[in-house]
Amino acid sequence: MRRAASETGWGWDGLRVRWAFDGYPPRVTGSGGTPMEAEFDTVAGWTEEVVVRLGPEYAIPAGCRGSASPAGLGWLIRTCGIGPGTRLVDVGGGVGGPAGYAVRHTGAAPVVVDPMLAACRAASRLFGIPAVAGTGERLPIADGAADAVWCLGVVCTVRDKRGLFREIHRVLRAGGPLGLLVVVGDEERPAGAPEGNTFPTDDGLRDLLRDSGFRIDAQTDLDDLPVPPADWAARTAEFDRALRADHGDDPRFVEAQDQSRRLSTLARDGHVVARLLHAVAR
Ligand SMILES: C[S@@+](CC[C@H](N)C(=O)[O-])C[C@H]1O[C@@H](n2cnc3c(N)ncnc32)[C@H](O)[C@@H]1O
Repeated sequence: MRRAASETGWGWDGLRVRWAFDGYPPRVTGSGGTPMEAEFDTVAGWTEEVVVRLGPEYAIPAGCRGSASPAGLGWLIRTCGIGPGTRLVDVGGGVGGPAGYAVRHTGAAPVVVDPMLAACRAASRLFGIPAVAGTGERLPIADGAADAVWCLGVVCTVRDKRGLFREIHRVLRAGGPLGLLVVVGDEERPAGAPEGNTFPTDDGLRDLLRDSGFRIDAQTDLDDLPVPPADWAARTAEFDRALRADHGDDPRFVEAQDQSRRLSTLARDGHVVARLLHAVAR
């Protein structure tokens, strides 16, 4: 993988400057950051602290809270053909839960790319996975270097979705698999949507993928797959209790919770749904 962040000067400062020019993320709040920074950076750092205290068996369930269930990750592993040594780039990989799951269950060789420094640090410390600060719209990865790409729960947080998919296509080998978890909406921003989120519609997502050089091979809804096993659910619940006990009074915790609550409300009311897709680079 050439063009690592350190070699290109593509670092966090550069990202922040570019985001500031773009007006993205959109709203600075009383806590001093944006709701998305609270959700994806601050909570990522707290996640690492709490997992270190609770024990390594909490790392994967805690690291997958913003993502797919074990059944969803199994579906992505199967459809994308992830196996020993697969060079998997997890775009917007967060604290590394899904990539850590892929390592444990297949022996894959993932790299996490995420704009949030605390998330990259957590992925590296909790799972020993190489993690690079960068955005999906400008990946610090060489052309065709990835055997497979995952992008889970990220598309709705990215404004330039076309740029994201074109960039993923650039780094993926010809014929390589793309595994997606996408929250699709009945409109781009239903009332009450979380700050900074814009949801593609089903038709919009299909057009975006086709125009970026992908063919959709399989699709399912996350809700149609089995719920997590009891031990996974118990660890997630215990982690949530510990996180709340440590940080429940912090305005950034409240902000991050509000973001999740807004998304859950939209899902409950049928405005958004989480879809898993397997696409192939044409
Ligand atoms: C809902 S979380 C999902 C994290 C992880 N993929 C998972 O499934 O557990 C969304 C992630 O997208 C990242 N993100 C936000 N904007 C991004 C961008 N422009 N490019 C890549 N990742 C981004 C966030 O930092 C966050 O880690």
